[in-house]
Amino acid sequence: MTIVIFGGNGDLAHRKLLPALYNLHVDGLLPPRMAIVGVGRKTFTDDAYREFAKDGVTKFSRRPIDEQAWQEFSAMLFFVTASIDGEQGLAPLGARLDIIEHERNAPPDRIYYLAVPPTLFAPTVKQLARARFVSKEDRPVSRLIVEKPIGRDLESARAINDAIAEVFDERQIYRIDHYLGKETVQNILVLRFANSIFEPLFNQKYVDHVQITVAEEEGVGTRAGYYEQAGALRDMVQNHLLQLLSLVAMEPPHALDADVIRDEKLEILQSLRPMEGPDVDANVVRAQYGPGFILGKPVPGYLEEPGVDPQSRIETFVALQVFIDNWRWAGVPFFLRTGKRLPKRASEISVHLKEVPPILFNADPAARLDQNVLSIRIQPDEGISLGISSKIPGPQVRIYPVKLDFHYGSTFGASTPEAYERLLLDVMNGDPTLFMRRDAVEAAWHWVMPILERWAELTDPLPAYPAGDWGPVEADRLIEATGRRWRAL
Ligand code: BG6
Repeated sequence: MTIVIFGGNGDLAHRKLLPALYNLHVDGLLPPRMAIVGVGRKTFTDDAYREFAKDGVTKFSRRPIDEQAWQEFSAMLFFVTASIDGEQGLAPLGARLDIIEHERNAPPDRIYYLAVPPTLFAPTVKQLARARFVSKEDRPVSRLIVEKPIGRDLESARAINDAIAEVFDERQIYRIDHYLGKETVQNILVLRFANSIFEPLFNQKYVDHVQITVAEEEGVGTRAGYYEQAGALRDMVQNHLLQLLSLVAMEPPHALDADVIRDEKLEILQSLRPMEGPDVDANVVRAQYGPGFILGKPVPGYLEEPGVDPQSRIETFVALQVFIDNWRWAGVPFFLRTGKRLPKRASEISVHLKEVPPILFNADPAARLDQNVLSIRIQPDEGISLGISSKIPGPQVRIYPVKLDFHYGSTFGASTPEAYERLLLDVMNGDPTLFMRRDAVEAAWHWVMPILERWAELTDPLPAYPAGDWGPVEADRLIEATGRRWRAL
């Protein structure tokens, strides 16, 4: 099998893809006679590409480089200078792939990875078709991996999906949402459906509300060019947060089949209560980080970041109150928040159970017991905890909140595979379960669109929060107006 990475000398390949492939090699999981071919406009020799890959692996791999494993791995790496311009742009790639496959006595089973900006998705796929690189048969294998963002609104997402569908069948297309490759995210279904204790409680009878936080300490960094066209709603909510929401809220699938699971997740996206006009103002808060401090060091505000328009109205933080209008979740608010330059990197889903009745131990209104909270820590410090009330030992009845706590690190060892390892392996194995189907991408955009449209109408200043704070005061008000609070992470 050969993986052809368009944008093979870019940031994603450097930080994520090449280190992930290296770790798959160390684990003995790559197919025999595998080749990895980077493609880009830049002139690079194979040797220079191997150095580029080594640098990425050294800096970003979860395991340090092992010289022998590196030698074996680097022999799989090649680089081809080619562009998607003109009739014959990919001709050098075709010729080189033929040679590589011939020398390795490997069939032309190929995975094409589009690690390029979304504006290049459609033209690249068109060129793949023109160069006759795509077979719709089961053998040889032709698969396409597309990175998010799939478009920047519903219309552009549809256009990209249409263009891809002209060349590849849906079953050949793997749309990545890398959150789905995270071990802790895959564990959500196991937690819910491999334990009898939680599932009976996951509904409006017992759950008061759910919070989903994806917090980042990092600012926009060097990605202003992309982020100025995106913002937190497009960059994080439309995909990662709605996927997390679907997994905690979905009905039990009747089988572990890719489409059965994806059908159930789609149902959730389709059951999200639409927000229009003033509903958006009441239920969604956006904000932008100003200058502040991260780990005691001063950092610039978003508007001072390189490449950012000093007048930019792009949001770096969003908080939302969302409802799922189905039988299971009727009336249960889901509070979502995500932002850059928050005090720490922490992603968590917490399910807050209803209070016990105000009798017995919960009779004193001035000293209410804590709600039971099931928290699923996605990253870092991956784990699951359940907050319960317990009696403090002693002659009086005094109650104290304690935690039942599971840590991946201490139970399973420190080094969990990176999301991209699992996702790349699944594409090689032809398993689409952890990938986004076209209908889900479009359903998520469909729900997000009225929020974007409402924001486009507004001209009032965006709320601000200092870098290093948990978002603006408006986000606190959003949840506090309902008598609840954001969970301290
Ligand atoms: C990406 C976003 O999809 O996810 C980035 O484009 C964000 O803006 C990143 O930083 C977060 O991923 P992770 O795995 O570090 O939580």
